[in-house]
Amino acid sequence: MNLNFLQRKLDERVDKGNIRSLKTNDLLADFVSNDYLGLSGNAELARIIHKKCGDEHVPNGGTGSRLLSGNHRWYPEVEEDLIGVLKAESVLLFNSGYAANQALVSAVADSGDTILYDQLSHVCLKEGAWLSRAETTAFRHNDLEDLEARLKRVTGRCFVLTETIFSMDGDVAPIREMIELCEKYDAYLIVDEAHSTGCYGSGGGGLLIEQELQGRVFARVYTFGKGMGVHGACVAGPKVLTDFLINFGRPFIYTTSLPPHSVIAIAESFHFLYNHLFLQQDLQSKIALFRKYWPNSVSETAIQPILIGSNERARKISNELQESGLDVRPILSPTVKSGTERLRISLHVHNSDEEIRFLAEKLLALC
Ligand SMILES: Cc1ncc(COP(=O)(O)O)c(C=O)c1O
Repeated sequence: MNLNFLQRKLDERVDKGNIRSLKTNDLLADFVSNDYLGLSGNAELARIIHKKCGDEHVPNGGTGSRLLSGNHRWYPEVEEDLIGVLKAESVLLFNSGYAANQALVSAVADSGDTILYDQLSHVCLKEGAWLSRAETTAFRHNDLEDLEARLKRVTGRCFVLTETIFSMDGDVAPIREMIELCEKYDAYLIVDEAHSTGCYGSGGGGLLIEQELQGRVFARVYTFGKGMGVHGACVAGPKVLTDFLINFGRPFIYTTSLPPHSVIAIAESFHFLYNHLFLQQDLQSKIALFRKYWPNSVSETAIQPILIGSNERARKISNELQESGLDVRPILSPTVKSGTERLRISLHVHNSDEEIRFLAEKLLALC
């Protein structure tokens, strides 16, 4: 079998300095994971989840689509719990944030509709848009004027896609103003809360809940593999929307459901966070500390981008940081636009103050 066609494309990446490969670095200080609140590695939470799974007979796998054998009783129970936490009329679990966004956007928008998405939206939102039969256009990142100009030109139904906290820049969308614009132009706003889930809002319900805006958007997406430290995702919104997704969301219908222990882990992680809400405050203290030591910071969240501007240099600095025991990874083009290659620093409650100071010192020396 001739596999040169694959090798040629990999070689092109090597030549451009942006070849991707897998690494494990368990022994380094974690400045890379999305486990902002340390819940993934939290031994007490692990014991609670294992006990709960051990006390009941929990199947090892989902066994089928939720529409067939895979709808174990924990799914609706946990969705009911999440309705309370997320202050939603209805909640539908998905296997991942990627699947949730792709299913939601590709299913709700049809031919004749328009999707306007923030140009820095996560690829799963964009992919959902491209898979739909709607017209799709990007608006300039967090730019209300550009969004309004485009909303004015739309005829027919319009969906607007954004994130509360952007995954590569850590900046926050002007969400209240976007809601007002969407209300003014009758557009349906879809908000991805991936990087705010757990870290903000009472009970970890995210930034929209913190600002009491949850009732003014069409749909919200929460992911559980980041701040919640477990796995999976959900869409929160009107009941008619979740009924619609059960019928038309292909990544919901044609896949094996999450293993039930993951579903139990989601519920237990939210219960645990409810009883340990000080973790949100701890995270804010770590962010403030980093920003004190690194005054060039442009982000107020746990995601701190350090723009480097070339793949080669970003990779080199990241290697040097790793040699010093700090797990900082480069984000290279084409993942980000050429010229905006960066180090993406993630801050966590489990980063010691000393590690944060050491990281900032190293950055000041290397960048
Ligand atoms: C903004 C955003 N949305 C969605 C996702 C996908 O979520 P998941 O990792 O649960 O598939 C990510 C993952 O990095 C993300 O950053």
